Amino acid sequence: MTARRVAAAVGSAGGWNIVRLASVESTMNEARRLAAAGAAELSVVRADVQTGGRGRLGRNWASPVGNVYSTAILRPAIPTHRAAELSLVAAVAVADTVARFAEPVRLKWPNDALLDGAKVAGILLESVIEGAELSAVLVGIGINVATAPELPDRPTARIANADADTIFTALLEALEDRYRQWRADGFGNIREAWLARGPDLGAPVTVGQGNERIEGRFAGLGNDGVLLIELAGGGVRRVASGDVIG
Ligand code: BTN
Repeated sequence: MTARRVAAAVGSAGGWNIVRLASVESTMNEARRLAAAGAAELSVVRADVQTGGRGRLGRNWASPVGNVYSTAILRPAIPTHRAAELSLVAAVAVADTVARFAEPVRLKWPNDALLDGAKVAGILLESVIEGAELSAVLVGIGINVATAPELPDRPTARIANADADTIFTALLEALEDRYRQWRADGFGNIREAWLARGPDLGAPVTVGQGNERIEGRFAGLGNDGVLLIELAGGGVRRVASGDVIG
């Protein structure tokens, strides 16, 4: 599908180059196209509407007008296995953003932002690999503002006291700040910031991984961002992917 561009459509804020579209299938696809064409680090695609918005684990992401839909192009010089850290960098930046307008904000591993216990934003990371190298990481972020589309398995919320333009500006600031912090200082401070808004230590947690369910208690995050679950039978399980369902 061809993306329809709003007039001129290119702007800047902070260190960002912004491409603004009226409607697109998914900002992930448009960002991937721009990345392949050589788009610079800190480029970001924003659309007013997505006709085929995507969520994690192959789900749809309903994308009516009035919410924030954006994908940032980052080009960190890191080995591919470290790209997962950016998932938590984005989560902390989204939590910072939402918290400027509403509280209480909590994070659910790896990167769901919850407002008053209901999902207010979603984050989707995709890597762009060239040869064996990580060429770019695409950080897709959706924030509910005008509407909170229903999800089959969890309650949803929206930021009701600001518009999408204001929230997008705040998001760019927060994402740039957290990304620069991560690049300068490494993952440690991001991990701490995530934990400050994460579940209480010892809280019950259930993760679905395909047909398997892993149940236990939240035991923190590994130094690489993996979820640590203390199992009832003893031992700690490291979970690098999956869906926290309880
Ligand atoms: C999730 O929680 O499942 C992740 C949702 C990610 C949605 C955003 S909206 C902007 C970007 N474009 C997409 O198609 N998806 C992400």
